[in-house]
Formats: sequence, C-alpha cells, structure tokens
Amino acid sequence: MSPVPKPAAAYPATRLRRPRAHAWSRALFAEVALSPADFIWPLFVTDGTGERTAVPTMPGVERLSVDLVAEAAKEAEGLGIPCIALFPNTPPERRTADGREALNPDNLTCRAIKAIKNAAPGIGVLTDVALDPYTTHGHDGLLAEDGRILNDETIEMLQGQALVQARAGADIIAPSDMMDGRVGAIRKVLEAGSFHDVQIMSYAAKYASAFYGPFRDAVGSGGFLKGDKKTYQMNPANADEALREVALDIAEGADSVMVKPGMPYLDVIARVKDAFNIPVFAYQVSGEYAMLETAARAGLIERDRMIIEALTAFRRAGCSGILTYYARDAARLLG
Ligand code: PBG
Repeated sequence: MSPVPKPAAAYPATRLRRPRAHAWSRALFAEVALSPADFIWPLFVTDGTGERTAVPTMPGVERLSVDLVAEAAKEAEGLGIPCIALFPNTPPERRTADGREALNPDNLTCRAIKAIKNAAPGIGVLTDVALDPYTTHGHDGLLAEDGRILNDETIEMLQGQALVQARAGADIIAPSDMMDGRVGAIRKVLEAGSFHDVQIMSYAAKYASAFYGPFRDAVGSGGFLKGDKKTYQMNPANADEALREVALDIAEGADSVMVKPGMPYLDVIARVKDAFNIPVFAYQVSGEYAMLETAARAGLIERDRMIIEALTAFRRAGCSGILTYYARDAARLLG
C-alpha cells in the first residue's frame, strides 16, 4: 500500500453507489412507489354457491361462485385494493353463436357486481366488455359465415352489454374486444342512459398474444376458440400502431387506457405515457402469472421479491395501476 494518495482524477467524480449504501437512503431515492392502491384484482366467477374450483393452468388461482367473489372483494377492500375486475365462466349451455347471454341482466357478471356492491360498497368494480365468455366459438365478436368477425354488428351487442353492466352497478366498463369505434359507441349509450359517471377503461393496445392461454382456460372459452384473434387484436411487432389506437380511444371518450399483455410490452406503456400523459394501466396477464408462479413454485425464483419487482416495473414504465392476479399477495406483502 502506497502512503501517497492517487491523484483525484483516478477516482470517479460521481459515485452512484453512495445513495445505495443504506436502506433509508435507498428508500429516499426511490423514483416510484408501489402500493395496494395501484392494483385491480381480476376474479373469475362461476355458477353455484360456496363453489371454488382451481384453474389448473394458473396455480393458486380459483374460480369463485358469486357469494365467494363478494367475500374476496371484502377482503380486498380491507387490504386497500381499490378495484375488482370480473370475468365469468359461463356455463356451456348458456353460450350461443351470438353470445346473447352477455345481455342477460341476471348473468354471472351482473350478479357478481350486485353482490360486491352489497358486501363491499367502497370498492370499485370493473367489467370486461367482449363476447368471448358467452359465444360458442370463443371469439370476442359476432362471426360471419365466412369466418370474419363483424365489426359494426358486434358493436351493437357491446353497447347492450355495457348498459346491462352499468345498470347492475359497474363503475368501470372495460372493452377488451378491439372492434373499431366501440369506445365512442359505448360512451354514447352510457350518456344516453344517464350513466355519466361510469368510466371507460379501454383495452386500447391489446395484442394477439400467446400469453392469454391460461385465461381462456379459466373462463372456459379456450376449448371453444376456432382460429385466432389476429384480425382484431394487434400484431406484437407494432408500437406506432398502439399510439394510434390510444389516440382514437381518447378521442372517443376513454377515461384511461390499458396496454396488454404487460411485461413483454413495457416499451409500449412508456411510449403511451410519454405521448399522451394520461392514466395508463397494464394487464399482467394469465400467461405472465402462470410463468412466474410456476417458476416460483419450482423454487427457481424468489417469489416475494419477484412479485414486487415485476409490479414495480410497471409503475416505473409509467402505469397508474396494474391488473394483476398477484393483487392480494402483493397487497399483503406491502401491508
Ligand atoms: C377477453 C379477454 C381476454 C383477456 C381479458 N379479456 C382474453 C382474450 O382476448 O382472448 C386475457 C386476460 C389474461 O390472459 O389474463 N376479451
């Protein structure tokens, strides 16, 4: 060891490790924070009472009957989670080519909304607008004889579906169908029906993704699906197009927009936030959950750290909030 100090120039002038040296300092320098208030918790609704069935492709996730959905919502409210998203597993005998069960004011989704509003009046309820849980072909829209998905005819159904959900008490209508013009059309009927305060969160940039596989299992539409959804959901290669989708949905009256899936599309989230500076949400979808949870259960990754890191990344990318199957676990970890 030389007693002579090296010239100052040999040392870094800036040491970014300095603020990382202590937990208090790391907390102080954190650019974003994650809290239970950032989560929307998706729940799968099934028929019956006291019914709880495992979703094999999503370890740890269950379909719940309406009474248990209400209990889960109450628990979520207690954990500080502001909103529940509902997805019905419609009994096969209620599925038709035109998905008209979507318009039934007594369908699983509507019953679940009412039960939640009774049990946990302080929590928000988001409902998905698309026909796939109700159709025999598993598509989000009406199918023509030649196999095309009919845009404008589908929109009429979606308007009806949104109204039925709003009447049942839904707070946020979330069209996930990707038909052109549906946000404006839904806003119009909501206004006409005096549902001025019912929000629209559009699945604005929704990609034709392999990561939805486990979800289709959970709602029971996977086995039915003929073909793929590439004529209405976006090409994973495109991001400029996502900005056009978002611009249209804002112009049509969306209160917030969603990017979906989440983790493989963080660049899209960041670009949307940059370009529009509006509330952006991400959906950490079923395949992402299945992938992470399977690895965690196999002991390949550290579960709790992984959950918080993955969700924090959405906040860093610019998200106001995240739809995540980890909502309850993450809220407990943060609590
Ligand atoms: C239905 C819908 C899907 C998801 C949410 N709403 C599936 C699809 O478009 O095929 C996927 C959610 C997930 O994978 O967790 N329109």
